[in-house]
Amino acid sequence: MLRIPLLEDLPAPTGKTVLVRVDFNVPLAATADDSRVVADDFRIRAALPTLNWLLDRGASVTACTHLGRPKGKVDPRYDVSPLRVVLDDLGLPVVLMENLRFDPGEEANDPVFVDRLVSGFDLYVNDAFGVCHRSHASVVGPPSRLPSAAGRLVEKEVEVLGHLITEPKRPFVVILGGAKVSDKLGLVRSLAAHADYVLLGGGMACTFMAANGLEVGDSLVDVSAGDDCRAILSDHAAKVLLPLDSKVLMPGNSVDVVKGSVPSAGRILDIGPETSELFGQRIMEAETVFWNGPMGMFEDERFSTGTRSVAQSLAQCEGFTVVGGGDSVAALDAAGLSGNVGFLSTGGGAALELLEKGDLPGLAALRESMDSRVAGRSAPWEEEWGLA
Ligand code: 3PG
Repeated sequence: MLRIPLLEDLPAPTGKTVLVRVDFNVPLAATADDSRVVADDFRIRAALPTLNWLLDRGASVTACTHLGRPKGKVDPRYDVSPLRVVLDDLGLPVVLMENLRFDPGEEANDPVFVDRLVSGFDLYVNDAFGVCHRSHASVVGPPSRLPSAAGRLVEKEVEVLGHLITEPKRPFVVILGGAKVSDKLGLVRSLAAHADYVLLGGGMACTFMAANGLEVGDSLVDVSAGDDCRAILSDHAAKVLLPLDSKVLMPGNSVDVVKGSVPSAGRILDIGPETSELFGQRIMEAETVFWNGPMGMFEDERFSTGTRSVAQSLAQCEGFTVVGGGDSVAALDAAGLSGNVGFLSTGGGAALELLEKGDLPGLAALRESMDSRVAGRSAPWEEEWGLA
């Protein structure tokens, strides 16, 4: 596992004030009286082991999070009051600071903002896996100022995702979908090097199919990614599997299953039944599976079959299954299958970046803080703690 300091590496938290960076960036819903409520508390519940560990040891805990993208301004649509309601309901004696992103210093990683943030705290814990890929003040700043550690959620995410790229049980099958291609090309390349098969669906597959010379009609294609797609296909021809057939929305709103060239006005919106069967076989034979991104426009019932069949194969697979990314988790939830998966990552972008690059800024900051102690370079807090 990637080296990071864990809760046990902290000075005893009893009687100490602890700042915990959590990722409570959860979906909200509007009620009939127009107030906002948490629609899915998965990320809040995921932080409970860490919060309880600290509370059980007599620490006084303050949590901080971002919520949405208010762009450095106070915006009542993103205040954290719905999150405080959930913490109250859970009976947790934890203070929750206001949305970190109301201050421009958070995203700018402003040292003055970091100083203000850590003021009055003895210890820092990062349990915000979903934001560890962002070099934001609350993620990378505190470890150079306070004794710091990863919380239980970050520890688990790093262990599980790290395992995928270091010693996965084989066959290791990766399924990638979703609409965006260019920001996932590095990931496809990196996972193709580690996996036995990479199954591509969604808009991402359309771009690969077009790069491979297939007519894809009016489908979503990122032309700028063509050369990279061709290079990946030529380097990993036997591993990267593209759809054999597709479900296509035709003019007049009819839906056809198409093999080969798609008519010019047709738009690919799901994988077809032959592809579902092929992908299903590969998934069922796997010892390790990672899935990110739907196979098509699964919100529309007509194009939900491919994504649902991947979710079902995953749920039946006897190997270790890992799912990352909000859309894939939502698809599993919709199929009532999230309980049948080995590990649901709380990170979308963070999970993908960790798999692609093997490290994240938030983890590196924790490690540097630990290494500076080991190397004898005292951090400002060490003298105060008698560790220098
Ligand atoms: C997420 O929801 O992926 C994380 O909370 C990060 O949010 P961000 O993409 O707005 O930085």
